[in-house]
Amino acid sequence: MARIIGGIGASHSPTIGFAKDTNKSNDPAWSPIFDGFSVVQDWVSEKKVDVLFMIFNDHITSFFFDHYSAFSLGFDSSYDTADEGGGPRNYPSAKGHVALSQHIGHALVADEFDMAFFQNKPLDHGFFSPLSMIATDDKKGWHGSVVPLQVGVLQLPIPSARRCYKLGKSLRNAIQSFPEDLNVAIVATGGLSHQVHGERCGFTNTDWDDEFLDLLEKDPEKLTELRLAEYIERGGMEGAEVIMWLIMRGALSDKVNCVHRATYLPSMTNIATVIYEDLDAHPSQQDTQSHIEHIYNEIAGVEKLEGTHPLTLERSHKAFRINSFLQKLTIPEHRERFVADLDGLMDAYSLPENEKDMIRHRKWIEMIHYGVTFFVLEKMAPVVGATNPEVYASMRGETLEEFQKTRNVAIQYSVAGGEKADQLDIQ
Ligand code: FE2
Repeated sequence: MARIIGGIGASHSPTIGFAKDTNKSNDPAWSPIFDGFSVVQDWVSEKKVDVLFMIFNDHITSFFFDHYSAFSLGFDSSYDTADEGGGPRNYPSAKGHVALSQHIGHALVADEFDMAFFQNKPLDHGFFSPLSMIATDDKKGWHGSVVPLQVGVLQLPIPSARRCYKLGKSLRNAIQSFPEDLNVAIVATGGLSHQVHGERCGFTNTDWDDEFLDLLEKDPEKLTELRLAEYIERGGMEGAEVIMWLIMRGALSDKVNCVHRATYLPSMTNIATVIYEDLDAHPSQQDTQSHIEHIYNEIAGVEKLEGTHPLTLERSHKAFRINSFLQKLTIPEHRERFVADLDGLMDAYSLPENEKDMIRHRKWIEMIHYGVTFFVLEKMAPVVGATNPEVYASMRGETLEEFQKTRNVAIQYSVAGGEKADQLDIQ
């Protein structure tokens, strides 16, 4: 079973990445930051940490206001550095633990947290500033794997401190019920006090930061009583992102052993590193088993339904490229090229031969088995001149006529609009 070894708190200011990339470790103005992170580095190697569960917020780099979510869990096998405006940092990608992500996703949703899930997104300094300081090898990056949790804290309303703490409690049970033998550390990033916008830009409050760290260690419940407005008043608008640290603290035992705590205010942000070691024993095998049953209760038995293929995170990850390729049929230029030069278009998207073959030969049911969602197949159907009932019939291994005999009314239809609908001769 996976074990929670402890929690790490670390600021994620872009200055940290800047200091690292420009070799400022011996510069007295920057060295306190390196000193703090070197303790964290030593601790993760001494404790043989396999997975870092990284809690961070994106800074409107990969998560935009067209669809902004509160809690977004990554379930990719790899995460690259994002271009934040001046080109991406030259830093290795982080390896994702897909199976652990999937398990945690099921567990949090079973506990009634309405999660968002993401893949194929590069991550910004919120994630990579601290990760690059925790990893010991600059060429290979973090030797273990990661599970990222992006918290939307920039467009109000955002989750409360109490909600973050509760999510941490659920996260603890999730990780402890994952069957693989892994050492996991929970990394909370962001803060401490700072404000980077408006006339209050430059605001810091080290007294509040010290009080916050005292309470986080010894009385985190008290921090859950504070309203967001109080966090903003005490620690600055952007410093209020420290509510993410309550996720980490909620995932740890009630009592923790603080083995490291350091803060340093060079310019705009009071930069912190802390380490808490978890003190509770692992839950009993019986408790773990009943939690696993709770986690998967919603879908228990669905595997026995013949001809039913739920799109799990695992399948969605495996079939992301082909789903993405077909979803782009909502774009007129992509549709036109799909018809005029399918092979050229599939080459341009580097589809492997098996995926090309399924598309080329309209292997509808094979695509479903593979992990393609029906809702991109019904986008492809009108482009290749097929109707929805023709796809349904094909998936059932029937002719259109045979299929229509099983319906009350033998109608033909498609999701196509405009001229395309006319061309399909839909009755
Ligand atoms: Fe941030």
